[in-house]
Parts: sequence; structure tokens; C-alpha cells
Amino acid sequence: MSNIDLIDRLAADGVLAEEEFTELLATYTAADRDYAAALAYRIARGQFGTQLHAWGVIDLTNHCSKDCFYCGLCRSNEALERYRLSTEDVLRCCAEGHDLGIRTFVLQAAEDPEFGDDVADDLIWRVRKGFPDSAIALSFGERSRAAYQRYFDAGADRYLLRHETADAEHFAQLHPRRSTLANRIRCLEDLKSIGFETGCGMMVGTPYQTPLRLARDLLFIADFDPALVTVGPFLPSSSTKFTGSPAGSVEKTLFMLSLVRIILPDADLPVMTSIATAHPRGREMAVMAGANVVLPNLTPPADRAKYSLYDGRVTLGRDAAEGLTILMKRMAAIGYT
Ligand code: 5AD
Repeated sequence: MSNIDLIDRLAADGVLAEEEFTELLATYTAADRDYAAALAYRIARGQFGTQLHAWGVIDLTNHCSKDCFYCGLCRSNEALERYRLSTEDVLRCCAEGHDLGIRTFVLQAAEDPEFGDDVADDLIWRVRKGFPDSAIALSFGERSRAAYQRYFDAGADRYLLRHETADAEHFAQLHPRRSTLANRIRCLEDLKSIGFETGCGMMVGTPYQTPLRLARDLLFIADFDPALVTVGPFLPSSSTKFTGSPAGSVEKTLFMLSLVRIILPDADLPVMTSIATAHPRGREMAVMAGANVVLPNLTPPADRAKYSLYDGRVTLGRDAAEGLTILMKRMAAIGYT
């Protein structure tokens, strides 16, 4: 079967066999990528029209107790200046975003022990009370089921926790031994059963990734059926174990994004900052490949650069308002509002 036939079958069935995904990922050409992108674009247009949603991201804290081998926020990165926003700071960011028309807030935090469940619960409730017309998405990492339940009860709607890789051995090559794929999956299952619109996702081009391992990511996504998926390229970060590893390919990232869109026609697929960092037209390319959400950053400009998951993380504009204006102009240029 040709790769074009495989892509058509994926569109018809929503999944392929592991060997077929692997074959596709090992042998695709530029023409196959274009074919998948065109199909994914049509699906997204059919689902969402020409409107993109803008979710405002607030990076709450870059203190982290974890030591993931790829991440610039890892505990052992002593070169990084750490910060933590106060609840008042966060509410101010939300108010600024709300004035700009943003109605979804993504509260994102590294795994900061000081940002415990009581603080988180209180913050979520205050955002819920202050902005009752807005959706609240969380990305606080691996926590207990009881904690997730509290966040949900406090008013959060969505939770994003990348699975990173659906291959247990690969997961172990990217994380210290006390982090396991089994616990990630446990968290994702808990989140979904509590009622969150749950998101998973992965980096493309991490060390030790293979076509088979990417095939397992797609199988996991097809099976888990998340409401949202984030896909971005791996970008090396100084002061991590993977310093000097090559960056993930932009083309392969876009191909994966298109395949995810074909698998999940109505899922939210945000344009990640990593793709914008990897390519100057990365945002536009991701929309043309099936993405439907953009993520303007509402973090106070003074702290933004410190949320350095990888080197050179781009920011659009000097502040939230300027960033959103630039983003709106650029998306208007490709036919979106
Ligand atoms: N390159 C790209 N993405 C990264 N992340 C962490 N480090 C990197 C990197 N070097 C992503 C991970 C994690 C999220 C917080 O950021 O996928 O889930």
C-alpha cells in the first residue's frame, strides 16, 4: 500500500496498525507530508471555519523538583534564575488578557513544591470567581488524583499533561528513574475520568526517538482520544543532559501534527511556542497543517524569558497586548480571525 493510501485509510478509519504507522513514519516523502497537511487543513477548516481560538498562557513558576533530561527548568540547572508569581500577579495577567478579549487561561507551572495543592486550589477558585465567562486550563504536571479532583471542583475545565512518549523504554531514556510512563498514564486516566478535557502530547525529535516510537504515540493518541493534543519539536537546552543534541525537525513535527488532526478531527491542537521558535513562520505552518488554537503569552515580560524550557524560546511583542496584535495580524494574513 502506498503512503498516500495509508493516509487515506487513516482518514477513513481513524487509526492504522503499528507496522503501518511505522512504515509511514520511516518512509514518508515531502509529497506525503503535503498530502497529509492538505487533508488535515481541510478537516480543521470544516470543523472550526476560519476562526482560531487564542488561549492566554501564564507561566506561574519555574521552580522545579523534577530533573527531566530535556528540560531547561530541570532542578539541576543552577544557572537559571527562578521566579514564582503571586496569586495577585496571576489575577492581574488574567485581567489584562480578559480586556484583550481572551476567554481561556492556561495556567502553567513547573513542578514547584511551594506551589502546593492549597495554593493551586485557591488560585483556581479566584480565577473562576473573577472570570466566570472564561475557561481555565491547567498544566501543573503529575499530581495525585485527589489533587486533580480539587482543581476540577475549584472550577478548572481542562488539563494538559504531555505523555512525552508512549514507549516505556523511551520514557526511561528521557527521565530520571523515579519518573515513569505508568504514572503519567495514571495521571491522564485520572484527569479524564474526573471530567477534565484532557490533553496529552509529545515532542518530535527527542533523543532515541524512532519511527516505531512515534507510531506508538499515534496509537496511544488514537486509543486515549484526548480533547487536546500538543505537538512540538524537541529543542536542545543548555544546562541539561541533552545539551548539544540536534533539534527535532520542523517538517516531521508538522507531519505528526497533521496525522494527529486526521486521527482526531475535533480535538484542539494548539500551535506550540516551540514550533514558532524553531521556524520564523512556524505558527502559520502549523495552522496550515491542521492546528486550530494559538497561545499568546500573558506572563509579565520581566519573567517570560525565565520560563526557558529550551534555548531561545521566542516571545511575540514586548507585552501581552503587543503580542496579541502581532499574532492577529499574522493570522489575518493567512485568512483567519
Ligand atoms: N524542547 C521542547 N519542548 C520541551 N519541553 C521541555 N523541554 C523541552 C525542550 N527542550 C516540553 C515538554 C514538557 C513541557 C513542559 O515542555 O514536552 O511537557
